[in-house]
Amino acid sequence: MGVLTYFDFLAKFGVGGAHPGGIILTKELLANENISKNATILDAGCGTGQTAAFLAQEYQANVTGIEINPIMIEKAKNRFKTLNLPVKIIHGSVEETPFTDNSFDFVLSESVLAFVNKPKTLKEFYRVLKKGGRFIANEMTINQKLSFQDEQEIKQFYAVDHLLLEEDWKAQLENTGFKNIEIKKQKLSLAEGDHAPEFNFSANFEPELFAIFNMHANMILKYQDVLSYRIITCTK
Ligand SMILES: C[S@@+](CC[C@H](N)C(=O)[O-])C[C@H]1O[C@@H](n2cnc3c(N)ncnc32)[C@H](O)[C@@H]1O
Repeated sequence: MGVLTYFDFLAKFGVGGAHPGGIILTKELLANENISKNATILDAGCGTGQTAAFLAQEYQANVTGIEINPIMIEKAKNRFKTLNLPVKIIHGSVEETPFTDNSFDFVLSESVLAFVNKPKTLKEFYRVLKKGGRFIANEMTINQKLSFQDEQEIKQFYAVDHLLLEEDWKAQLENTGFKNIEIKKQKLSLAEGDHAPEFNFSANFEPELFAIFNMHANMILKYQDVLSYRIITCTK
């Protein structure tokens, strides 16, 4: 295996709710939306499927997950099977999905958009949403412009192409055609973490993954004043 990445750590540790605020914040966000029974929901980059499972259980929603990492997919499938939930899961990229136009009431992106080609993926989310459908995201956001060196360190560790300010997210969403854009800063900082962590370890994972876990924790502490996240909601 080549150099291990932050995503290898997430996948092999089977981190559930791998986004700021974890499943607790997810539940809060969803409670603010008008999700009816059988609403069609796409969990884009669904990871091990914690949110997708919650949506199916709590709302009896018609949930589809799409995910690129095979280890994540396997863990998500096991979760849905164990819980006997009819969640569909597709192995593919959020940048180019197999879904037809106007097919979802909601698209959710919990810490996924930050890691992919944003204009391309936003266009895709817009395409698959129904008119009036809602896009909900929880994404890495910087509070202020960073020095070149700091920016490089964060971008390299998380393998992201750009670090966005709140206004950059707004511009990207507007360019895609979204309306009613709201971008909210949360009370809890990244360093205050996830209060309901969940792990589902792979057998025989590389011990080096602990080092990546530590580097992630250090990164969050080192950049606690500038590296943050925002809750983004908007409508097609
Ligand atoms: C930070 S994790 C968040 C996972 C999940 N949304 C959660 O909150 O637990 C980012 C996820 O996006 C997935 N991902 C990254 N690039 C992707 C792509 N192009 N298409 C689909 N999934 C992708 C990763 O494999 C990973 O599972």
